[in-house]
Amino acid sequence: MSMATSPHTLLQNRTTHRNPFPLTSQRASFKPASIKCATQVQSQPPPLTTQSQDRVFNFAAGPAILPENVLLRAQSELYNWRGSGMSVMEMSHRGKEFLSIIQKAESDLRSLLQIPPEYSVLFLQGGATTQFAAVPLNLCTPNDAVDYVVTGSWGDKAFKEAQKYCKPKVIWSGKSEKYTKIPSFHDLEQNPESGYLHICANETIHGVEFKDYPVPMNKNGVLVADMSSNFCSKPVDVSKFGVIYAGAQKNVGPSGVTIVIIRKDLVGKAQDVTPVMLDYKIHDENNSLYNTPPCYGIYMCGLVFEDLLEQGGLVEVEKKNKKKAEILYNAIDGSNGFYKSPVEKYVRSLMNVPFTLEKSELEAEFIKEAAKEKMIQLKGHRSVGGMRASIYNAMPLAGVEKLVAFMKDFQTRHA
Ligand SMILES: Cc1ncc(COP(=O)(O)O)c(C=O)c1O
Repeated sequence: MSMATSPHTLLQNRTTHRNPFPLTSQRASFKPASIKCATQVQSQPPPLTTQSQDRVFNFAAGPAILPENVLLRAQSELYNWRGSGMSVMEMSHRGKEFLSIIQKAESDLRSLLQIPPEYSVLFLQGGATTQFAAVPLNLCTPNDAVDYVVTGSWGDKAFKEAQKYCKPKVIWSGKSEKYTKIPSFHDLEQNPESGYLHICANETIHGVEFKDYPVPMNKNGVLVADMSSNFCSKPVDVSKFGVIYAGAQKNVGPSGVTIVIIRKDLVGKAQDVTPVMLDYKIHDENNSLYNTPPCYGIYMCGLVFEDLLEQGGLVEVEKKNKKKAEILYNAIDGSNGFYKSPVEKYVRSLMNVPFTLEKSELEAEFIKEAAKEKMIQLKGHRSVGGMRASIYNAMPLAGVEKLVAFMKDFQTRHA
C-alpha cells in the first residue's frame, strides 16, 4: 500500500506562509568561516521539506507527535531566536527574551482554556508522576482523607503515591472490569470530609475518558484531574476544578514540562515536609522561575499554544479530534469483530484508541506491516497488549485515514 497523502505535504503550505522567520533570513547573519567544524558548512540552508519526506505517522502515546509546522518553526528559530543572537536553549531564564516567551505561553494557554483569573498557571518539571505526590502534599495534612476514582493504571498510580502523604480511599475502581468504564457519578460515595476528589480525565493506557466531571462533595469542593493525555484536546470548564495537571509530552510539547493549573485559594497550604520543588506556593510566587525551568520545553509548548489558537481554539480542535476518533472507532466497530474496542462506547477516548484483533496471533504482523507503511508505535501498552493508536491533536486526519485504510486492507488479507 502506498502512502496516499503525506502528512507533511499537507502542512507545508501552512508552514511556509505562517513562519515569520524563514531559515533564509537567519542565514544572512550566519558566518560559516568563523565556525571550526570537521564537516563542511552548507552554503545553502536545507529546504524545509527535506525532513518531511522521511517522517512517519507516529501513533505513540507519549512522547508523541507534534505539529509539523511547530517543529519547522522551532527549527527555523533554533540557531538565533528572533534576532537575539542566541538559541532559546542558551538564554538566561531571567532575561527579557525568555520572560517574553514564558509570559506569552501562559497568556495563550489562558486564552485557549479560558482560565479564570483566580487560577494560577505553573510550568513545572518532574512529569505528572511528580504531581501524584505534589497534589496530596499541597492540598492536605497527613491525616486527611481524600477520595480517588480509579478508572485505569494512572489513577491507580496516583492513588498509591498519595498513600504516603495522606489517607486516600478508592471510592470506585474499574479494575475488576479491566478498566473499560467510568462510573455513574450518582454511585460515587464521596466522603464529605475528604480533602479532594481525584480523577484521571483520560486514561492513556486503557483509553477511557471522562466526558463530564463529577461534582466534588468534599469540604473544600475540590476536584483534581490528571489531564496529561487529553490536555488542550477540547474545551474544559476550568472553574469546575481545584487543580488540573498535565505532562506536556502528549498534546502540547516535549517531555520535561508539567503544567499545573490551580485555584489560588488552594496555594500555600503545603505540608511542612514538602520539598521546595513540590511546593506550589514557591512556584506561584516566583512565576515558575524559582529555579531554572525547562526553558526550551516551555518555548515549544508556547509554539503549540499559538498553533492551537491559530486553528481557531479548542472548539475547532475538538471538532477535528472527534472526526478522527469517529473514523477509527467506526472502522473497529464495522469490522464484524475482526477488530475490537474493549472500552464502553460512551467513554471511549478521543485521544488513545486501544483495540485488539480477534485473531490475536496476527497482532505482531499487524504492527510490522503498519510500520512498513510508516505508521509506527501502534503496539498496545505492555500491561494490556493488543494495539493502541494515539491520535492526539497533532495527528493529521490523513494519518487516521491511512490507518483505517490499512486496517481494512489487512482484514481483507487475513480474515
Ligand atoms: C494520564 C497519565 N498520567 C500520568 C502519566 C505519567 O507522566 P510522566 O511520565 O510525565 O510522569 C502519564 C504518562 O503517560 C499519563 O498518561
